[in-house]
Amino acid sequence: MSVESAVQAAYVVAALLFILSLAGLSRHESARAGNAFGMAGMAVALAATVTLAARSSSGTGLALLAGAMGVGAAIGLWRARLVQMTGMPELIAILHSFVGLAAVLVGWNGYLSVEARPGEQTEVAPGLLGIHSAEVVIGVFIGAVTFTGSIVAFLKLSARIRSNPLVLPGRNLLNLGALAAFAVLTVLFVLEPGLGLLAAVTVLALALGWHLVASIGGGDMPVVVSMLNSYSGWAAAASGFLLGNDLLIVTGALVGSSGAYLSYVMCRAMNRSFLSVIAGGFGNEGSAAGDVDHGEHREISAADTAQLLKEATSVVITPGYGMAVAQAQYPVAELTRRLRELGVPVRFGIHPVAGRLPGHMNVLLAEAKVPYDVVLEMDEINDDFPDTSVVLVIGANDTVNPAALDDPGSPIAGMPVLHVWEAEDVVVFKRSMNTGYAGVQNPLFFRSNSAMLFGDAKERVEDILRAL
Ligand code: TAP
Repeated sequence: MSVESAVQAAYVVAALLFILSLAGLSRHESARAGNAFGMAGMAVALAATVTLAARSSSGTGLALLAGAMGVGAAIGLWRARLVQMTGMPELIAILHSFVGLAAVLVGWNGYLSVEARPGEQTEVAPGLLGIHSAEVVIGVFIGAVTFTGSIVAFLKLSARIRSNPLVLPGRNLLNLGALAAFAVLTVLFVLEPGLGLLAAVTVLALALGWHLVASIGGGDMPVVVSMLNSYSGWAAAASGFLLGNDLLIVTGALVGSSGAYLSYVMCRAMNRSFLSVIAGGFGNEGSAAGDVDHGEHREISAADTAQLLKEATSVVITPGYGMAVAQAQYPVAELTRRLRELGVPVRFGIHPVAGRLPGHMNVLLAEAKVPYDVVLEMDEINDDFPDTSVVLVIGANDTVNPAALDDPGSPIAGMPVLHVWEAEDVVVFKRSMNTGYAGVQNPLFFRSNSAMLFGDAKERVEDILRAL
């Protein structure tokens, strides 16, 4: 068997491993195996690619390749070891930006080594030049949109810039105009490739990516992250076409389509149309929610909360991002165990976008060994709140905001939420009266059956445990 055939066979094996990886990652019981398949697939793919490169590269080329891989692997290991669960979305966003940048560089390299050398012998047959030019311009466009879009997402998610949407006049027209200009520039580039045209496409796409994500409000960020995931897949697939690399095409298509599907699932969970999200429709038309007088809130102590819990006939815990920040999952698991021992049934209600990445809460609770059977999805538990004695809202805010249902002018109007206020008593664990991720005030905190338990969620749960 020739080296080329062996490499092609290795690519097929890697592609299959990637598919197994995606299948494994779809359920948290099999997620570890999914990760292992993904790592094995990547190792096979890297080995095959390096073998192929070794055949045509000089010693210096190979040394550069090994150096780049070494540096990349070291940075990857270092970041992955340090990153907290709560920091995953921004890490993912910045990694997407690298894929976008790589696609731009591959596109430019394609141009410089083929179209920029007219009349010279290149690896592209003259009859296929038009297709090559289209691949160059499309790859650069998707890559550049992904690059700047992901950087803005990174800045917003890591709170380096405000998550409020940027509202430019004629925002949708700007986006549509940019798409139309891209179509025209693509046709011109295919007819007559030129440096100026490719530079114009690059600048246009960089600006479009920036604007697209900047104009999306905080509440929609989950969809943005999965949308950029999808874009990064398509950018990789475009690079695959340019480089003639089948594995990159298959992998890019897998990432692109699974990211698109995840975006669809997230949109459905948030009752949003995908188009309205990417056009920046969410989080913009907000009422002046901050100016509304909601009345007074009531405070409760940990001891009184413990008393409420002891007397409860059923308890539901709805965790959110704050539980992750406080790392309160262990005392929460202990509280669950203690209450169950006292004969008080405890269940969890998980909102699909609670926390900062899909499945965030499920992973934390599984880590703290909360039994799976008491952890219910929002739809499974939402009808049970009227029969619930006490709800503990631990570090959640947007996901339990009744304004999503009652206030059509709210930036989160229409988003399904956990109906915690229908329970007899609600105790909200947070450190202040500050808003949640979407930046809107929560009328739940001012309801007569709600009480605030201020402080770090972990410390307060530990106080309750002591009082029990
Ligand atoms: P949020 O609405 O962000 O509210 C979290 C609350 O936790 C905050 O109001 C904060 O209040 C409190 N908190 C923070 N640290 C705390 C600590 N140490 N102890 C106690 N409380 C603490 O969270 P959520 O209800 O989980 O909603 C998720 C939000 O994130 C949604 O808007 C969603 O769209 C967005 N988002 C989700 C994802 C995915 S995929 N799940 C990705 C990106 C964004 P204090 O500051 O007063 O303590």
